[in-house]
Amino acid sequence: MNKPKVVVTRKQFDSEMDRLRAVSDLTIIESDHLPTQEELKSKVKGAKALFVHINDDINGEIMDAAGDSLKIIGQFGVGYDNVDVDAASERNIAVANTPGVLTETTASFAFTLMQAAARRIAECDRFVRDGKWKYFEPLDLLGYDLSASVLGIIGYGRIGSYLGKIASENNMKVLYYNRSTPEETYGAERIDTMKELLEKSDVVSIHCPFTPETNNLISKKELSYMKKTSTLINTARGPIVNLDDLYDALSNNRIAYAALDVTDPEPINMDHPILKLDNLTILPHIASATVETRRKMSMMTVDNIIEGLNSSLPTYCVNSEKISW
Ligand code: DGY
Repeated sequence: MNKPKVVVTRKQFDSEMDRLRAVSDLTIIESDHLPTQEELKSKVKGAKALFVHINDDINGEIMDAAGDSLKIIGQFGVGYDNVDVDAASERNIAVANTPGVLTETTASFAFTLMQAAARRIAECDRFVRDGKWKYFEPLDLLGYDLSASVLGIIGYGRIGSYLGKIASENNMKVLYYNRSTPEETYGAERIDTMKELLEKSDVVSIHCPFTPETNNLISKKELSYMKKTSTLINTARGPIVNLDDLYDALSNNRIAYAALDVTDPEPINMDHPILKLDNLTILPHIASATVETRRKMSMMTVDNIIEGLNSSLPTYCVNSEKISW
C-alpha cells in the first residue's frame, strides 16, 4: 500500500523526520526563503498531513491545493494564528499544536529580556564594540533593579503565569490582566482594566494569543497610559503591538524602552526607523529556541501527525469538536 504523503515546510530535527519517514512519503521543503503561497500550493498537492510553522500562511487555498486527502495540520508551536482553523474545520481537517512544552523556556526568555532591558545589555555591548569604553564611570550606563519594579502581565495563561512565578521569586510585584480566572496566580494581583495595569507597571510583558481582538492591542492610546520610565516586552505575536506607534513612543521618550522578539511583519522591514533606536532590543522570534524545547516541539508535532495518520484525533487537536472522522 502507498504511504500517505506528509509535507514539512522547513528543515526539522533528523530524528523526528526519520519517525515520519517510516510511516509516510515525506517531502521536506528546505528552501533558503520562506515558501511562497504558490510554492506551498504546488508542494502540498495530495498530502494527508502538513507539518507547518508560524510564518506559513495556511489558509483555505493551501488546504484546497492539498485536496481531499488532507486530514491533519500539525503546527510547530503553541500559537496557531497562521492557520485558518475555521477553514480547516469546514474541510474536516484536524489542527493540532504543541502546548506546554515551551512554557518555561518562553517565560524565562521574557524574563531575560526584562533583565537585558533593565541593565541596558544590548546598548552596553554596542558601547564597547564602538570603542566608547574609556574608564570605569560610576554614573554612566545605569540601569534599574527589577526587584524594585512592578511587572504588569497582559494574558495570564500558561506562559504569562509562569513569568509571574519567576518574577515574584525575583521579588517583583506582579500585576496581571486576563479575561478569565487563571488556574494559578503565584500571588499576582488581578487588575480589572488594561489601562490601570499599564498605568501602574514599570515593565509590561505581553502573553496573550493573537486574535482579531488583540490585533494592535497596544497602540498609541495604550502607550500613552504607560509610565515614561517603563519598558514594553513582546514575546507573543508582532501584530499585538502597533510598530509605528511604538516607534513614536520610543523616539519621543513617551516610554523608556522596548524589547521585541516578534514583529509585524516577520521579518521586520529593514527600512523601519525603529531599527535605528538605541532604546530597543530586537530579536528574531527565538523565545522557544533552545535545543531541548525545539526538539520537544518537533516530537510533539510528529506525534500529533502520526496520531492523525492513524485516524485518531491528535491529543493536542484544537478543533476536535468540529471534526468527525
Ligand atoms: C509559539 O509556539 O507559538 C512560538 O511563537 C514559536 O515557538
